[in-house]
Amino acid sequence: MDTKEKLDAFQDRIDRGEKIEPKDWMPERYRQQLIRMISQHAHSEIVGMLPEGNWIPRAPSLKRKMVLLAKVQDEAGHGLYLYSATETLGARRQDVVEDYIYGNAKYSSIFNYPTLTYADICVIGWLVDGAAIVNQTMLAKSSYGPYARANLRICREESFHKKQGYEMLAKMASGTDEQKKMAQDAVNRWWWPTLMMFGPPDSDSPNSAELIKWGVKTKTNDELRQSYVDRMVMEAEVIDIKLPDPDLKYNKKTGHWEFGEIPWDEFWAVVKGNGPMNRERIKARKNAYEDGEWVREAAIAYARKQKLKEGKAS
Ligand SMILES: [Fe+2]
Ligand SMILES: [Fe+2]
Repeated sequence: MDTKEKLDAFQDRIDRGEKIEPKDWMPERYRQQLIRMISQHAHSEIVGMLPEGNWIPRAPSLKRKMVLLAKVQDEAGHGLYLYSATETLGARRQDVVEDYIYGNAKYSSIFNYPTLTYADICVIGWLVDGAAIVNQTMLAKSSYGPYARANLRICREESFHKKQGYEMLAKMASGTDEQKKMAQDAVNRWWWPTLMMFGPPDSDSPNSAELIKWGVKTKTNDELRQSYVDRMVMEAEVIDIKLPDPDLKYNKKTGHWEFGEIPWDEFWAVVKGNGPMNRERIKARKNAYEDGEWVREAAIAYARKQKLKEGKAS
């Protein structure tokens, strides 16, 4: 029962900056919100492998193939830490995964856009992983211990992802005219969707206040988005890339870059399943899950056999 005394004591722990661990008492709503958030994050890591995995055989050199392969494998690892974190909250992995494959659990809208050229892979590393770092650095301070620790580890790998993307894009942006055009075109297509990765504006984000009160998040969507824009404007300038927003303007008073109107209609359409790649992504995940059924069955049978053997030995 979530009595007032228990809720107050829990809030005190949060306010003191203590971490909440799996066996500690927590309000049911805190548990549910975390399962929702962490599983969405896990699904995003796994779906995120699809647009990039697609380019591993077509990456332009052995070195680029190896780097991309390592990055895509890291994303699988991120998904796995996060699914494990949901299990510490009492969720069953199978339920969480099936809620996404057969239900309507969400994942990051960004992965519903197509990767048309190799420059998109560079831009995903720079902009998409760059946005993920801003978000996950905040989540590494989350009040729930296992989630905070998973994000800490994820962030270390994300910074490698971002660097490889930025380095490739810098190279492309200083190449031939055709390469420059390709780099700029990819940035033009990905810039606005990456701004949407931080979620709807604070005025339209119903879960935000509660998540902040409980220390699951420590910054709002708009605050995170602003720090991302400030950083990216600088990084774009260094490699001679233009961000496709005529309204970008530095505000001396606030010390921040102001930016134009985000196309929220597009965001909601993608969230509701009508982005350019939604159907394809879910189909690919469904096929992978169903094709892998025999592997799960074999693993369970093997575990059962081992247990039986151990039983006999003791
Ligand atoms: Fe990741
Ligand atoms: Fe990443």
